[in-house]
Amino acid sequence: MAINLFPVTPDFVAEVGDVDLSKPLSPEDADSIQAAFLKYSVLVFPAQQLNPDQHVAFAERFGPLEVNINTYQDEVKAERIDSRISDVSNLDHENTLLPAQSRKRMSGMANRLWHTDSIFRHVPARASLLYARIVAPIGGLTEFTDMRAAWDALPESMRRQIDGHIVEHSIFHSRAKVGATVFTERERASLPPAQQVLVRTIPETGRRALYLASHAIRIMGLPEADSTRLIEDLMAHATQRQFVYSHRWRADDLVIWDNRCTMHRGTRYEEHRWKRDMHRATVSDVGNSIKAVATEPGRHPQEHE
Ligand SMILES: [Fe+2]
Repeated sequence: MAINLFPVTPDFVAEVGDVDLSKPLSPEDADSIQAAFLKYSVLVFPAQQLNPDQHVAFAERFGPLEVNINTYQDEVKAERIDSRISDVSNLDHENTLLPAQSRKRMSGMANRLWHTDSIFRHVPARASLLYARIVAPIGGLTEFTDMRAAWDALPESMRRQIDGHIVEHSIFHSRAKVGATVFTERERASLPPAQQVLVRTIPETGRRALYLASHAIRIMGLPEADSTRLIEDLMAHATQRQFVYSHRWRADDLVIWDNRCTMHRGTRYEEHRWKRDMHRATVSDVGNSIKAVATEPGRHPQEHE
């Protein structure tokens, strides 16, 4: 039986049924999923039973796996989950709830801010595949916003103003916003700031999208006040309700999103009461986004020192 595509919104989110991702996909189903992922930017695969190898194997259909950053090794022993997969949970290595002062918990608070994964790395993430093992009965949703629709809705004058700008990002910028500032020198050195374009083109579709996150420190070449104002205005624009889908998780949902043209955030839940255990496989983009723009015909990033 071919996959069953059920649009949740006209062109942003769809559920995919009649597919078992633990088994090899037929070429037809694999093609249908890739095509759906370009039309929609968020796909929900309910009721999946995946081991880490199967989770990773499906992820690798979208690109090479991103190398994990092993932070908080003092709290999270590698054996809690497979080292190829990011631990997005409120659990320690004994599967008990993290204490209030946990560095992992504090840093995870930054996931409540709108962001796109790994924009703070030189080569950012193309896609993330988040697999829900244990969900909170209330709260703990993930919200997604459509950065293509946000771009499309900007006035032409604003599009002209911002196209070609370069933004500097750092994971420590968003962490500082939630009060998580205690990082080792090794952790800081492993994630220096990275620059990305502010507006990008999805090569397979030609659609344009804002590319922004709470990791954004500054827009290069602008006075600090203008840069801060513009980032905040664009974040507010892009996260208006009409662009947002809120996902209520069911255990065994696998959700994949395109980091090139979406932002997401987790919502609050009673994290000292409920376990929430989510596993994320992350797939790298093909390169830095500035390089990608430089090779588009007729487009050049604005020159900055
Ligand atoms: Fe994220």
